[in-house]
Amino acid sequence: MKYLKVKKDFPILNQKINGKPLIYLDSAATTQKPKVVIDEIVNYYSFSNSNVHRGVHALSERATDSFEEVRLGLCHHINAKHQHEIIFTKGTTDSVNLVAHGFRSILKPGDEIVVSELEHHSNLIPWQMLAQTSGAKLKFIPMTTNGELDLSTLGSLLNLNTKIVAFNHISNALGTINPVKKITSAAHSVGACVFVDGAQALPHMRVDVQNLDVDFYAGSAHKMYGPTGVGLLYGKSAWLEKIPPYQGGGEMIAEVSMEKSSYAGLPHKFEAGTPNIEGVIGWGTALNWLNDIGIENIKTHEDNLLNYALELLKEIPDVVFYGTAKERAAVISFGLKGTHPYDAGVLLDQMGIAVRTGHHCAQPIMTCLQIPGTIRISLAAYTIQDDIDKFIEALKKTILLLN
Ligand code: ALA
Repeated sequence: MKYLKVKKDFPILNQKINGKPLIYLDSAATTQKPKVVIDEIVNYYSFSNSNVHRGVHALSERATDSFEEVRLGLCHHINAKHQHEIIFTKGTTDSVNLVAHGFRSILKPGDEIVVSELEHHSNLIPWQMLAQTSGAKLKFIPMTTNGELDLSTLGSLLNLNTKIVAFNHISNALGTINPVKKITSAAHSVGACVFVDGAQALPHMRVDVQNLDVDFYAGSAHKMYGPTGVGLLYGKSAWLEKIPPYQGGGEMIAEVSMEKSSYAGLPHKFEAGTPNIEGVIGWGTALNWLNDIGIENIKTHEDNLLNYALELLKEIPDVVFYGTAKERAAVISFGLKGTHPYDAGVLLDQMGIAVRTGHHCAQPIMTCLQIPGTIRISLAAYTIQDDIDKFIEALKKTILLLN
């Protein structure tokens, strides 16, 4: 197999934008949804809509069974040890905030939090807020100019005061795949807890949380062909037991009196209020779609396209690459000499090509590279070779127009 042929599963991709066939190269921002996922959401509202974990009636039981089946599916997908280690959240950002909030009652002044310089703001700002409220000190794993983490600094960064080490599995801005096991084992050697933002990894590669030995791992459905507004937090049972709930409300309690309450067990302790039921059920269908194709096949497809696109881009003298890590996923960040990324983005859009431009919610990376932003293309299972050809053609026209 060189390339997958699944573009036909995505109705949105069969349209024109600005009079040109849509070429969608912004999958790191959000992936498109296969028709089976769209149909499943319509089907849920047409036949099964009901609240979960609450009713004894048939619809509620049907919705609850479908909802919990997805938790089990995700548990198997990332090889969590227990189903109750999968917490449904609003998305990766919500998952980071849940854990960072939970550590407010654990950290104290003098403790240290280590975050990488390669982070999306969602895996930085919650830790800044935790440092402010707890008095803990923030320290940073620096990035190198090719967009890798400088792990030679770990020895001096980590010590017995380090309580949390947070970093991403794959950088959304540069596509770097970070050596999760290596960083995790260094963090564990000083007794620190490891939090990994897996939003960009789950759609592209096999993730085995037990093998990685991480303490927390977060992801979003909408980056993996599922609906927006729902994500997961994986946590080792012991950590999930240790941190207090993030929000109070229905469903997360055991006993309630007017003065005080006791909390439900895992996973419900962290799932206050009516969850995003249709989102979870749609995610289940997306997961089945993804597993039918096979995550390894998706990875091979994307790696082949990545190399194809890189070769073509290297032939264009105006292109400057940002992020050239040895291990990388299907993301290419680049600039055009003497132009602002935004201008290229607007011109490409006029030719039907959707790319993301700017700092990609990762301003510290741009600061380190001393640039205002990049043009980013990000690929998915539905990207085809012809999309890359049309993009390259449009980019060449863009360069002529900007010069
Ligand atoms: N995190 C998303 C991106 O990288 C929004 O574009």
